[in-house]
Amino acid sequence: MAEARPRVWVSQPLFADIVGRLREHFDVDDTAQVTQHGSAAIAAALAGSDGALVTLNDPIGAAEVAGAGRLRAIANVGVGYNNLDVPALSRAGIVVTNTPDVLTETTADFGFALMMAAARRITEGERWLREGQWRQWSFETLLGGDLHGSTLAILGMGRIGQGIARRAAGFDMRVLYHNRSRLPEGIERDCRAQYVDFDSLLVQADHLVLVLPYSPQVHHLVNAAALAKMKPTATLTNVARGGLVDEDALADALSAGRLAAAGLDVFEGEPAVNPRLLALRNVVLTPHIASASLATRRAMVSLAVDNLIAALGFGPDAGRPPT
Ligand code: DGY
Repeated sequence: MAEARPRVWVSQPLFADIVGRLREHFDVDDTAQVTQHGSAAIAAALAGSDGALVTLNDPIGAAEVAGAGRLRAIANVGVGYNNLDVPALSRAGIVVTNTPDVLTETTADFGFALMMAAARRITEGERWLREGQWRQWSFETLLGGDLHGSTLAILGMGRIGQGIARRAAGFDMRVLYHNRSRLPEGIERDCRAQYVDFDSLLVQADHLVLVLPYSPQVHHLVNAAALAKMKPTATLTNVARGGLVDEDALADALSAGRLAAAGLDVFEGEPAVNPRLLALRNVVLTPHIASASLATRRAMVSLAVDNLIAALGFGPDAGRPPT
């Protein structure tokens, strides 16, 4: 009797032509029509699976894999791992992969655009115009802050942070960064970026951009105390994870004029957005789309598919260390 093929669960509709490549090696359950499942539904899907292709919508830890005796690999379509309890999954012998690199430049583009939109009040101006409030051209309408000649402060200087720093050179910005560890001199030179401690970063920032990975250790790193150190003319942009920012403290600072503007692509309770932020005009809000160019989203799914095939011991890369 032919040996049963490994089973793979795909947790949400992804690009069908790319996901279809999994069928060469596996029995694929890609029938999920929703993008978010409860813990019990995830556990049930994983129970009969050897591998899974999941996204940041799927929180998976010890509870979800407790009954998944066959599960050997989870390929996350995303660079962040924060939906996965990696230590618990490793203890259960499950390999976890992600999709770094392929989204770096697209996310850096978006981070830069969001910072610019917040600083120059682009979406606020558009809303104001559409509301019919533009009655006459005036010198003092919607005055924003400049990017050129200002200080860009990058918190988290991984690949995406470095991409944003490189873009800043074209805008004549001074670049400061803070990171868990200081970068090698060569990279600092390439990025024209100077390492400073966290407090100096906050104090000197004209535009602070968050691009660090989320972990419980950095939960609400940008809280009321941190925001109080920033200039009232500064902006904050977050393309990392919502949990890095205390959103109520941010809303307080923005509404009291203690911070000029914010650009947020990620939220603590997404897809729910803090109503206080929704009510403010000086925040640009986008629905977690920093990596959402067609080419990049396809590249992410493609890499995750390759990762899963390799992690389950098939294809030309079988057995290669997971990304
Ligand atoms: C990631 O890759 O972690 C992004 O936030 C989702 O595209």
